[in-house]
Amino acid sequence: MTGRLDGKVAVITGGCSGIGLATAKKFVAEGAKVVVGDLDEAKGPGVAAELGGAFCKVNVTDRAEVEALFAFAKSTYGRVDIAFNNAGISPPSDDSILKTEPDAWDLVQDVNLKSVYYCCKAVLPYMLEQGGGSIINTASFVALRGAATSQISYTASKGGVLAMTRELAVQFARKGIRVNALCPGPVNTPLLRELFAKDPERAARRLVHIPMGRFAEPEELANAVAFLASDEASFITGTDFLVDGGLAGAYVTPLEEDFA
Ligand SMILES: NC(=O)c1ccc[n+]([C@@H]2O[C@H](COP(=O)([O-])OP(=O)(O)OC[C@H]3O[C@@H](n4cnc5c(N)ncnc54)[C@H](O)[C@@H]3O)[C@@H](O)[C@H]2O)c1
Repeated sequence: MTGRLDGKVAVITGGCSGIGLATAKKFVAEGAKVVVGDLDEAKGPGVAAELGGAFCKVNVTDRAEVEALFAFAKSTYGRVDIAFNNAGISPPSDDSILKTEPDAWDLVQDVNLKSVYYCCKAVLPYMLEQGGGSIINTASFVALRGAATSQISYTASKGGVLAMTRELAVQFARKGIRVNALCPGPVNTPLLRELFAKDPERAARRLVHIPMGRFAEPEELANAVAFLASDEASFITGTDFLVDGGLAGAYVTPLEEDFA
């Protein structure tokens, strides 16, 4: 299906890699104009050229840069219909609470949570002026399920994204603005590969909890984001939209012997 985002203008943070990049490609295929906001100045211009869109260097932890990103989208394309607030990190310094120090805690909160506050705060005035819009904030399944393999600040940051998303959805529902959280299960992106590259056992330990028995591909998340961004999702707001291969629904996952 194509053309579901015809005439719409989208801003995507973290659009140079993984879920953000796959979503940028999907949005363009569906007819949107895309502004990619990312720290990565080396990749950004090439990504934007390939998409027929625009690149704006942004550090999402910097309020002025976030405001400049949305102002750039508005001045370049005349409106902002979709904000996919997606940039996030998962550094090794964020680990069990017993090992995670305040610097690591703060870094992850700034990139994963405070940034979403900055992005929503910057884009809402444009959407209010236009009388509508769709915001999708990237959270994670870890905001809904506990794990013994903790990254304590990451999990707390994503819980914050869910709560903030819900609150904004309720506040702005009658202004035509929908606000949803995307909750990916583990996705095959550089972020995940980096986390498990050195330790295949860590990856295997997670795979056993996914009924589908595999990680998601970024394109599978992009399909969900395009749906949430589009008018097809016109009655969907305030959700924790899980795309997780059944992970959050599982108690015991299937083995071959269950089908014998
Ligand atoms: N990969 C997974 O398994 C998974 C699972 C659940 C949630 N998520 C979330 O999905 C989002 C995207 O993850 P991904 O796997 O695609 O990651 P990725 O590492 O492939 O891409 C992240 C992008 O964000 C950019 N970025 C990082 N810090 C930034 C900053 N301060 N300012 C601007 N840009 C910045 C990077 O340059 C990169 O292009 C993140 O919020 C992540 O927490 C990922």
